Amino acid sequence: MNRYRPADKNEELLYEITIDSKSGIALYLVSDASGVESPPHIHHTWAIIAGISGIELNRLYTATEHENRKVSEVKTVPVGPGEVITLAEDDIHSTAVVGSQSTYHLHLYGCDLKSLPAFNTRTFSAE
Ligand SMILES: [Fe+2]
Repeated sequence: MNRYRPADKNEELLYEITIDSKSGIALYLVSDASGVESPPHIHHTWAIIAGISGIELNRLYTATEHENRKVSEVKTVPVGPGEVITLAEDDIHSTAVVGSQSTYHLHLYGCDLKSLPAFNTRTFSAE
């Protein structure tokens, strides 16, 4: 894994592995440091996240106030080595790296992440 060094303290590393030129389907290797968290967000495309090392805790939400972008947690899914979570294009999730180890997780998306709207337009507040 020398080519893809693991995240140091507070880092979130996104390595682009490949993007299919016809379909746009994109594969990334993600390494996030212990304690790194993302706010609730939507991708607007499907995603399959597979754990290699470390534990990424995924929280899933339902929208409670669409206008105010508020969500409520409905489920928590730890994704560790050999475990997988699938997300539909309208699913809202957040992530948190738990435990002391930084992660390696493969993220397969239905499109190139660079083609998505800016991240801060896709986030929500958890109640
Ligand atoms: Fe995400």
